[in-house]
Amino acid sequence: MNFLAVVFGLFLMSCNSTVVHDQSVSSPDGKVKMEFDVNGSGRPFYRVFYNDKTVIDTSYVGFEFKNGKAFKDNFKIVATTLTDHDETWQMPWGEQLEVQNRYNALKISLEEEVAPNRKWDIIFKTYDDGIGFRYAFPEQEGIKELVITDENTQFNLTGNHKVWWIPGDWDIYEHLYNETLFTDIDALGLSGHENLNATYIPENAVNTPVTMKTDDGLYLSFHEADLTDYSGMTLKVHKEDLLMTSELVGSDILKAKAKITLPFETPWRTIQIAEKAGDLIESKLILNLNEPNAIGDVSYFTPMKYVGIWWEMHIGKSTWDLEGSQDMNTFTTGKRGSSRHGATTENAKKYIDFASENGIKGLLVEGWNTGWDKWINTEDREGVFDFMTPYADYDFDAVMAYAKEKGVEVIMHHETSAAPRTYEKQMDVAYDFMKDNGINSVKTGYVGKIIPKGEYHHGQWMVNHYHKVLEEAAKKEIAINAHEPIKATGKRRTYPNAISREGLRGQEFNAWATDGGNPPSHLPTVAFTRMLAGPIDFTPGVFNIKFDDYKKENQVNTTLAQQLALYVVIYSPIQMACDLPEHYMQDGKVHPAFQFITDVGVDWSQTKVLNGEVGDYVTIARKERNTDNWFLGSITDENARTLDVAFDFLDDGKNYTATIYKDAEDAHWNTNPTAITIDTITVTKDSKLTLQLAEGGGTAISIVPQE
Ligand code: NOJ
Ligand code: CA
Repeated sequence: MNFLAVVFGLFLMSCNSTVVHDQSVSSPDGKVKMEFDVNGSGRPFYRVFYNDKTVIDTSYVGFEFKNGKAFKDNFKIVATTLTDHDETWQMPWGEQLEVQNRYNALKISLEEEVAPNRKWDIIFKTYDDGIGFRYAFPEQEGIKELVITDENTQFNLTGNHKVWWIPGDWDIYEHLYNETLFTDIDALGLSGHENLNATYIPENAVNTPVTMKTDDGLYLSFHEADLTDYSGMTLKVHKEDLLMTSELVGSDILKAKAKITLPFETPWRTIQIAEKAGDLIESKLILNLNEPNAIGDVSYFTPMKYVGIWWEMHIGKSTWDLEGSQDMNTFTTGKRGSSRHGATTENAKKYIDFASENGIKGLLVEGWNTGWDKWINTEDREGVFDFMTPYADYDFDAVMAYAKEKGVEVIMHHETSAAPRTYEKQMDVAYDFMKDNGINSVKTGYVGKIIPKGEYHHGQWMVNHYHKVLEEAAKKEIAINAHEPIKATGKRRTYPNAISREGLRGQEFNAWATDGGNPPSHLPTVAFTRMLAGPIDFTPGVFNIKFDDYKKENQVNTTLAQQLALYVVIYSPIQMACDLPEHYMQDGKVHPAFQFITDVGVDWSQTKVLNGEVGDYVTIARKERNTDNWFLGSITDENARTLDVAFDFLDDGKNYTATIYKDAEDAHWNTNPTAITIDTITVTKDSKLTLQLAEGGGTAISIVPQE
C-alpha cells in the first residue's frame, strides 16, 4: 500500500466516523503476533502468526446457550486496550526458582449491534513462547447466569501437521499417545480401553495438551490455563477443514456444558509455539497465565522422594483389602479367604527401615483403611471408604511412631472411589486427623465412574470438587497429589499445595495392562505433551523390570538406566522409588544403582532441555535448589541412540564429579533391561560427552562439585 492509499483509507474511515481500534498485538520479541477482527456479519475471529507466517488461520469464536441467543454474529468492537507486563516471580518449589512473566495484552470489548446488545470481552496475551486468550462475560443488565451448551472456539490449522494425541475422553487421560497426521486422528476407532475403569469418548476429539509439528518444523501445543469453575476442554477434530473446535466436557445432569454466573472469565485457551521441541518443556506460559499464589507459605510441604506399599499390590504380591484377592487386570475382587493384605504394621516398618537407611524421606501406605473390600466395580460406592479407620492388622499409631523415630514422613492415602460427595462430607475430619498425626500431604484417588451418574471426571462439577479439595486442604496446610485428577492447568501457581498428580498412563499399567504396558516411546512422548501441563506422579524406579515371580505376562518396557533417568526427565516435586525393598537388593546389599535415587534432587533452581524430539528422545539437566549439584537424565524410545551432550550449563571454573549410570553395551529394554554400567569421571563446563542409549534405554548422571 502506498502512502496515498493509506491517507485515503484513513480519510474513508474518518468519514464513517469509525473509531480506530488496536486489533493486533505482538510478543515482546515480536515473533508471535495475533490479530482480531469481526467479519461482515459481525462474527469475531482471530489469527496467529509466527515470524510473519500464519500458524492459526482465521478462527471464529462463539458460544451457544440454553438460556439465550448464541454469541455468533452481529458483534462490533466498542473498545480495545493494549497493555504490557513484565514481572519475575518465584516458585515455592518447581522446575526453576525464578519465572519471568512478560507479555503484551490486548483486551477487546465487543457489543451486539442488535438487541439485547449484550457485552462480551476477549483478552489476548502474547508471549515469546505463545499466546493465551480467554473470554470474559462482564456484569450486565438482564443476564445473571448463562448455561453454556457449546463453546465454539476454532483453531484453524495451516497444514496437515503431525500430531501426538490421546482421545478426548471425558473420564480419563490414561491412554497411550498416538502419532498420526491430523487427518488420521481417529479417537473413536481406538481399541484397548479394557484396562480403564471409566472411559467415555463421545466424538472424534483429542484431550490437551496436544502437541503438533508443522512441515516447517515448528512445534505447537494446545492446552488451557486456569481451569476454574468451568468444564475441561477437549478439541474436536474436523479433518476435512484441518480445523479443531473446543468441545467442553458435558454433564447429563445439567444437560449442558457449564453454568456460569456473571461476571465470569473462562480458562485461557493456549497455544505454545517453539522452534525446538525442548523449548515447549522450558516454556512457563501455562503457569504465567494463572494468578499468583493465593494461599501463602507452603513450607509445610517438603519436596521429597518416597517409597510405598503400592507396587506390590499392582504386581499382585499383596492386596489393598484385608481378605480379598483383587485383580487389577480385570478390576474385579476375586474370591475371599486368601489374606495377602499389603498394609500391615510389619510391612510398613520394613519400608520405613529401607527408606531411612537409603536417604528416602517419605512413605505412602495404600490399603491401610477400611472400605477396600467394596472398592472396585461396585455401583454403590457412596459411604464405602472412611479415612480414619485402619484395618485390624495395621496399627496406625505404631506405624506413625516408628516412622517418626526413623525420621520418615508418612503420606496419607485417600481413595475416594469416585464418590466425591462422600469425600466432601469427610474431608474436614479426615484432614484434622492427618494434621493431628503430623501428616502434611495426601494422595487422593478417583477410580471408577463418578457418582452421581451423569457427571464425568473432567466436567465442571468435578472441576469444582477438585478445586474445593485444594482450598479446604490449603486451609489445613495439606498438600494434594491427585490421581484420576482433572488435568493440570497451572493452578499450582495459585495453589502451590497442588504438588503433583497423575492424569496419564502411569507406571502402574506396566504391572497389569493386558496390552503389553507402556511402550518405550511412551515417556519420550509424555515429556512433550502431558508434562507441559505440570508435575507428574509417574512413580519411576522399577529395578526388577520383569517381575516374573509375580507376573510372567507383564514387565516394564525400559532399561533400568532409563528408570533412573526418569527422576530428572519427568518432573515432580515428589518422586516415588516404587519398587519393593527386596527388589532394590543385590547380593545382600542395596543395588549400586540405587545410589542415584538416593542422591537425585527433587526441587530445582534451573532446568535446561539439552535436546529432544517428540516421541523419540529427550535429555534434560536440572540444578538442585540450595546445592550446586546438577543431575542429567536422557531417555530414548525403542531406538538406540548416540547423543552428544555439552556440559556448558555448569558453573565456570569448577570441577565436578560425574557419576554416570548408563545402559551396558548389550542392554535392551526387552532382552537385557537390567544391564547397567556405572562410571565416575571429572567434568567441567568445557566437557562434552557422547551418551549411548540402548533400545528403550537411558542415562542418568549426578554431577557434584569437587571441594
Ligand atoms: C489408581 C492410582 O493411580 C493408583 O496409584 C492407586 O494405587 C490405585 N488407584 C488405588 O487407589
Ligand atoms: Ca490410575
